[in-house]
Amino acid sequence: MKVLVTGGAGYIGSTTAKALEEAGHTPVILDSLMSGPRAFVRDRIFYEGDIADRHLLARVVDEHPDLDCTIHMAARIVVPESVEQPYEYYRDNVAKSLELFDELVALGKPRILFSSSASLYATVEDFEVDETSPLDPSSPYARTKQVMEMALTDMAAATDLRAIILRYFNPVGSDPDLESGVYAREPSHVLGQLVMAAQGQRDSFTITGTEHPTRDGTGIRDYIHVWDLAQSHVVAVERFDEALREVNEPSTIINVGTGQGVTVRELVEAFQKVYGEPVPVTEAPPRPGDAVGAFANVDKARELLGWTSSLSIEQAIASALAWAEKRKQVLGYL
Ligand SMILES: NC(=O)c1ccc[n+]([C@@H]2O[C@H](COP(=O)([O-])OP(=O)(O)OC[C@H]3O[C@@H](n4cnc5c(N)ncnc54)[C@H](O)[C@@H]3O)[C@@H](O)[C@H]2O)c1
Repeated sequence: MKVLVTGGAGYIGSTTAKALEEAGHTPVILDSLMSGPRAFVRDRIFYEGDIADRHLLARVVDEHPDLDCTIHMAARIVVPESVEQPYEYYRDNVAKSLELFDELVALGKPRILFSSSASLYATVEDFEVDETSPLDPSSPYARTKQVMEMALTDMAAATDLRAIILRYFNPVGSDPDLESGVYAREPSHVLGQLVMAAQGQRDSFTITGTEHPTRDGTGIRDYIHVWDLAQSHVVAVERFDEALREVNEPSTIINVGTGQGVTVRELVEAFQKVYGEPVPVTEAPPRPGDAVGAFANVDKARELLGWTSSLSIEQAIASALAWAEKRKQVLGYL
């Protein structure tokens, strides 16, 4: 199959492009390189440009009339920045995505796989959420994802558009050949900060929030190896029509996680085990907006896609550490 991947120069998009190739498919990348590095699109069919550029989209489809599906990953993704710059987030994640969807339908390319986020979920008592659990997106970023879920659902009901919405939990790690991975200079997510503390790029790792109502007081997440996450896209593309037929709906939402909740303290422990040395840890109160967290109920992914994650948190940590060693060669910076 041939698959258009918007945001294919990004962390998850480049990994997914590789997984598609390994499964015998052909990714076609559309990315503005607003944040993704050029190094991640080398050796791939690549269009540099904006998702809302209808002329460019028409050219892509003209040159690849055999495109079967679009994976729409292009987005702005930095939560604190979305609080400071809501206009830019709504413009790029919402308004531009609408242009993209409308044009794809007009061009006769109605299958869309959309990257949504577990950050939409409200906190529930046992922290396990399924696709029907209550939502309470706590940032402009998360709200842009919620708006797009609603828009896709409405457009699918009224037009030829068909949508599978994947709610990602917390991707970590790199692809198995270390060709791409986290490229932010100062990763804000917890595993990136642990790697920086281990490498001495910061004095210690800070656990923010130790009085949450979890088993050890720290926040809980569902860390999924990015390679597992990439595989979920491969099966979702392959079983796209079948999955929608099974639910008998023009669109559906599917959690993509491991089904395991891991607290920050448990993550630190696993990290130290894999790294083989203690990492200096300090504790601080939660930052404003810090969520207690959630982990995925993954029954629907298993039933509809026949997909479950297969890599462990230890493998994800080892992969993140290996990428941290390698990334200077790929990116040119530490
Ligand atoms: N990383 C996570 O923890 C996480 C969790 C849940 C959901 N997601 C979603 O997964 C998707 C991919 O995330 P990622 O971590 O790989 O992010 P990323 O920033 O690495 O990748 C996004 C890519 O989109 C491109 N892009 C942004 N706006 C564009 C536009 N208007 N036109 C063309 N290209 C544009 C960027 O240049 C970048 O390469 C996003 O939609 C994100 O919201 C990510």
